[in-house]
Amino acid sequence: MIRAIVLAAGKGTRMKSARSKVLHEICGRPMLWYVVQALRQAGIGEIVVVINSELRDEIEAFAVESVVQEEQLGTGHAVAVALERLEPRSGRLVVVCGDMPLVTGELLAEMAGSLDGAASVMALVTAKMPLPSNFGRIVRRGGRVQRIVEVRDATPEQLAIDEMNAGIYAFDEAALRDAVTHLRTDNAQEEYYLTDLVENFVSAGKDVRPVLATDHLSVLGINDRVELAQARKEMNARLCAAHMRDGVTIVDPDTTYLEPELEIGEDTVIYANTTIGRLSSIGRNCVVGPNSRLSNAKLGDRVTVRESVVRDTTAGDDISIGPFAHLRDETRLGDKTHVGNFVEIKKSNLARRVKVSHLSYLGDATIGEETNVGAGTITCNFDGERKHPTIVGRNVAIGSNTSLVAPVSVGDGALTGAGSVVTKDVPSGERVAGNPARPMREK
Ligand code: UD1
Ligand code: MG
Repeated sequence: MIRAIVLAAGKGTRMKSARSKVLHEICGRPMLWYVVQALRQAGIGEIVVVINSELRDEIEAFAVESVVQEEQLGTGHAVAVALERLEPRSGRLVVVCGDMPLVTGELLAEMAGSLDGAASVMALVTAKMPLPSNFGRIVRRGGRVQRIVEVRDATPEQLAIDEMNAGIYAFDEAALRDAVTHLRTDNAQEEYYLTDLVENFVSAGKDVRPVLATDHLSVLGINDRVELAQARKEMNARLCAAHMRDGVTIVDPDTTYLEPELEIGEDTVIYANTTIGRLSSIGRNCVVGPNSRLSNAKLGDRVTVRESVVRDTTAGDDISIGPFAHLRDETRLGDKTHVGNFVEIKKSNLARRVKVSHLSYLGDATIGEETNVGAGTITCNFDGERKHPTIVGRNVAIGSNTSLVAPVSVGDGALTGAGSVVTKDVPSGERVAGNPARPMREK
């Protein structure tokens, strides 16, 4: 099994943030998550992440091994700290920076295999990039890589070089273990540069092999929030492209904001200015957007969500939501339900064919099959201290502007007149009206 060291202890000062750099998110996941994911895709399962002490609690979520670099003395020092933790083995070791979320599994797999059968002790990914750039420059002589020069140590001629060090390396482990002990700090940042290993190896007559990345965005290292935004844009474009290739129509990928691990069925159409996140799953032939936000939404087939916010909600098939609805907190919608304009539903369960078409608030409510909730109906679920449930049976007609003062129930087939204030349970089949609601007199 190939092992990898991920460097993630840096202070990330250029982010100007109280949070560690690698925890900053793009498309709903921390940068470090993507790097770990790409390593796993490349078949690299043994991962040690070098962290700073602030990351100690947060690293658990990534299910990797970690080692704390108490003082950030540079990338070379970070690798030395990781090597102390790892049991020495012969063979290869991959080192990658934790601040490059766009790196792909393919590139890492290529890196892991790059020393196979080669006499080289080190391989590194290089990329052509537009200038100016903050990346270390690859200095070649006669086509062969000689050394890497960090920007702060570079001469103007070196700064004009457009081949960069990506920050992804493979090493012969024994050579690496020996070489890191010889690193020095005689540079502009007074740090132990991992990148100095190139010159050290070359001057000792050893071979360093460059692997040119075809796509420079994949190796973008994020150092500030401008680069963070660039990376988000690229990642989002990739996520949209993957779903479009799987049969989803995304009308405007530039304003459709996705995150990894979403399920979206074939022939679903997503309109502009829509965000879909937090492990949502959407069935086939749905229409989502425009101007909608879904988070942990589990939708069946043929569901329409227009100009609405849907979070922590599970919905069946053949449902229409919106425009301008807000569903939240463990709401469940049965098949063929309809939730219309300006309706908020919280922690409620609507059975098949329930309609709540206009201007309502349902909180902590259970509504039976085929019931129609009239315009302006409100569940008064909060008494100032506690929330109370409302239970409405099947085939009930809740009149416009009914207030259901919880806890309260309305039996099957009952009816409330327009403007009813229901403070007591209504038996099945009963017709009530008024404030407080009382049985209507038979005419
Ligand atoms: C580094 C490379 C540079 C390369 C660039 C690619 C060095 C000296 N320079 O520069 O050649 O072009 O990455 O993005 O390696 N880190 C630690 N401990 C430390 C210092 C850094 O774990 O003591 C980690 C950081 O968290 C980060 C990574 O190493 O994930 C790279 O550090 P960073 O400060 O971003 O280096 P760059 O200046 O970008
Ligand atoms: Mg960097």
